[in-house]
Amino acid sequence: MARERVFRDDDDHADENEDIRQAGNSPLYNYNPDDRELDEELRPQRLEDVIGQRQVVDRLKIVLEATKKRKDVLGHLLLDGPPGIGKTTLATVIPREMGVDLQMAAGPVLDAPKDLLPYLTNATEGSVLFIDEIHRLRPAVEEFLYPAMEDFRVDIALGEGLNARTINMPLKRFTVIGATTRAGMLTAPMRDRFVYREHLDFYEAEDLVEIVSRNARKLRTTITPEAASEVARRSQGTPRKANNILRRTRDFATLRHPQGEITTEIAAHALKILEIDGLGLEKQDRRYLQTVIDIFSGGPAGLNAIAHSMSIPPDTLEDDIEPFLLRAGLVQRTPRGRVITRNGYLHLGLKPGPELPPGFRGLS
Ligand SMILES: Nc1ncnc2c1ncn2[C@@H]1O[C@H](COP(=O)(O)OP(=O)(O)O)[C@@H](O)[C@H]1O
Ligand SMILES: [Mg+2]
Repeated sequence: MARERVFRDDDDHADENEDIRQAGNSPLYNYNPDDRELDEELRPQRLEDVIGQRQVVDRLKIVLEATKKRKDVLGHLLLDGPPGIGKTTLATVIPREMGVDLQMAAGPVLDAPKDLLPYLTNATEGSVLFIDEIHRLRPAVEEFLYPAMEDFRVDIALGEGLNARTINMPLKRFTVIGATTRAGMLTAPMRDRFVYREHLDFYEAEDLVEIVSRNARKLRTTITPEAASEVARRSQGTPRKANNILRRTRDFATLRHPQGEITTEIAAHALKILEIDGLGLEKQDRRYLQTVIDIFSGGPAGLNAIAHSMSIPPDTLEDDIEPFLLRAGLVQRTPRGRVITRNGYLHLGLKPGPELPPGFRGLS
């Protein structure tokens, strides 16, 4: 329930603990759209099972094949895009396709170079080191990573004062796959060290329908094509959200349908109880719109001010909530701050605000 937490916790395990705490609650009503606990179960294993993102996948296929043919080591790859869109999926599929080892690390939990060192020394020839949330690496760790990425060596400082010396340790040639929700927050030297950079965008409805239908089979449940479209349409273009809605609707179907089939009626009922509206907005998304309208007269309002009013960390707003609102044209980012668009008002059933400064109105 990352987006509900007031303080961002740097420790990934905090998420797991939170999930364990949540597990005791009702399975139906305790809806967490960003539940990552179950990602593994539905994660595609091979590149051919990765649905959508055609251009990215096609480009990666060429890179992988050429690298294999040259018996070379894959160049470092940066994946960016909103949460739940397939970054970790691609990062786990690629080493499998290449037949090489994979190690997984996360930017925020690497406190010092010594935390990164074991990953680097354990890296086998051609293996992949996946670094999630790479934009949140501490500067000292990032600087330690540069020579490792560039020349496959690390410089280790030993001793202090007059006795200080640096030893230079060679590493096996390996590949860093970095994932970030904020390519813009990466430092320039970090960004420059990636040979390949791919942006993953929200999914087309038809791709999400395919993901929902396939995953229904994986979960050994049946879903009608209409219900699959409905779930897809309300998932904010995001596979993780589609998967989670699918799981929740399956629970409803188990209880309400003799064969446990997910029908349109059951899907609609489930979505209503989960408070996911026609556009796929969740309670928190509508709360964002309402807050900017009520407290800031519809904007322009600064990110931090909105975050403060909602008691949600600004990072969470920017990573988890805003991307889809912007994409759906309900919010606009202007140099003076966030503004609710005409469509944003209409979506909440409100009249577009009279207090909006002229020029900001009708921009949607
Ligand atoms: N292209 C895809 N095809 C099929 N399923 C996908 C795809 N991308 C993501 N998913 C599903 O969504 C879940 C979350 O994706 P993930 O790769 O963990 O997102 P991210 O790392 O970008 O936050 C995965 O477990 C998988 O089931
Ligand atoms: Mg991920």
